[in-house]
Amino acid sequence: MSSNITFTMIKPDAVADGHIGAILEMISNAGFKFKALKLTQLTVADAKKFYEIHAERPFYGELVDFMSSGPIVAAVLEKENAVEDFRKLIGATNPAEAAEGTIRKKYARSVGENAVHGSDSDENALIEATFHFSGREIF
Ligand code: RTP
Ligand code: MG
Repeated sequence: MSSNITFTMIKPDAVADGHIGAILEMISNAGFKFKALKLTQLTVADAKKFYEIHAERPFYGELVDFMSSGPIVAAVLEKENAVEDFRKLIGATNPAEAAEGTIRKKYARSVGENAVHGSDSDENALIEATFHFSGREIF
């Protein structure tokens, strides 16, 4: 895989609110190609591991409970400058601060339940992609 990939999840709030189709369309229209895609659910242990970096933060317990509370859509996306461009497309962590037209501005419920995840570096994109997908699930 090249470094032009990022990893995303449509989080349980946006899946429950019926936004899978609209969000996938926004991602596609922004020029990202789907390299891997599935509907799945994180166990509590999966969510703890995925967000390990935030273990000391006050919101960690809430984040783990939320991320394991229902199905998510996991995807690996490809585009030039994927990590940075995808974070622009999703907008700020807090939807109240997210720019107009971003995915979080349109679909997030709150700072905690904020519709989508986007990798924060090329290195983490690879780690996160291989956390969720086996080699034969990535195209
Ligand atoms: P993500 O990793 O999910 O793409 O989000 P991010 O980079 O924009 O934000 P990050 O700082 O990595 O935080 C991870 C997730 O933790 C939840 N959070 N809750 N209640 C709060 O103050 C708070 N702050 C962060 C959000 O779900 C955030 O996306
Ligand atoms: Mg993050």
